[in-house]
Amino acid sequence: MDKKIIAHRGIPTLAPENTMASFNVVVNQDVKWIETDLSITKDEKVFVIHDDKLNRTTNQSGSIETVDSSDVLNADAGYWFAERFRGEKVPTLDQLIDFLNIHKVNANIELKGVVGDNANYLADKLVEKFAEALDNLDDHVDLIISSFNPIMLEKMYKLRPNLKYAVLFSRETLGDDWNLVMQACHAKIVHPDSSGLTQAKLEQMKDYGYEVNVWTVDDVNRAQELLKWGADGIITNIADRMLFLEK
Ligand code: G3P
Ligand code: CA
Repeated sequence: MDKKIIAHRGIPTLAPENTMASFNVVVNQDVKWIETDLSITKDEKVFVIHDDKLNRTTNQSGSIETVDSSDVLNADAGYWFAERFRGEKVPTLDQLIDFLNIHKVNANIELKGVVGDNANYLADKLVEKFAEALDNLDDHVDLIISSFNPIMLEKMYKLRPNLKYAVLFSRETLGDDWNLVMQACHAKIVHPDSSGLTQAKLEQMKDYGYEVNVWTVDDVNRAQELLKWGADGIITNIADRMLFLEK
């Protein structure tokens, strides 16, 4: 079976991360999978952005959960990368879904944890709004929902039990209880950090029957090693240069 080469935030070496420009590069390079991130604003609108603040990737500032959607809609998410990307927007979740449907590209969508005073309420809203939006996703788009946050994954599973779930583990969170976390989340897919991941651990994941997609691997030799050990996919910032590893 083909291996998955998953474009982390689009192809952020060629266009500003998590923008339509970056997702268009994925399509133009014939990459089949996009990885991207969701967060929610104070007025409960869902956007495609990695950080919990606007500061690094836009010309606005502030924590996502404390700003209004108008602030995000007005933000320029491209100028910092290169002048020709000035005017790029932070995509909405609905725009992302439309893009996936139109271009028939598959997606690993990560639910970001919410911070701040209203964190639990907004995290629930993020899960609810994501579940509702997915009703508009075409069947031909393959989807993996991932999160570092098992509670959000469990809640999402309750709303949409027929979808595919992946637990994200960092080097620090991949403890002895990792398989219990998988079971609690009804996850069939593991997304471990490449850092510190051993052949024995990866083979254990495969022996338990899980699909394993490793992040974030930008070294071709390391990607080849992980695939040789049995990894099913590689999440990478240089998907265009890893495509030859699909077969
Ligand atoms: O999906 C893997 C990776 O995206 C998780 O880390 O911080 O880049 O979202 P991060
Ligand atoms: Ca991510």
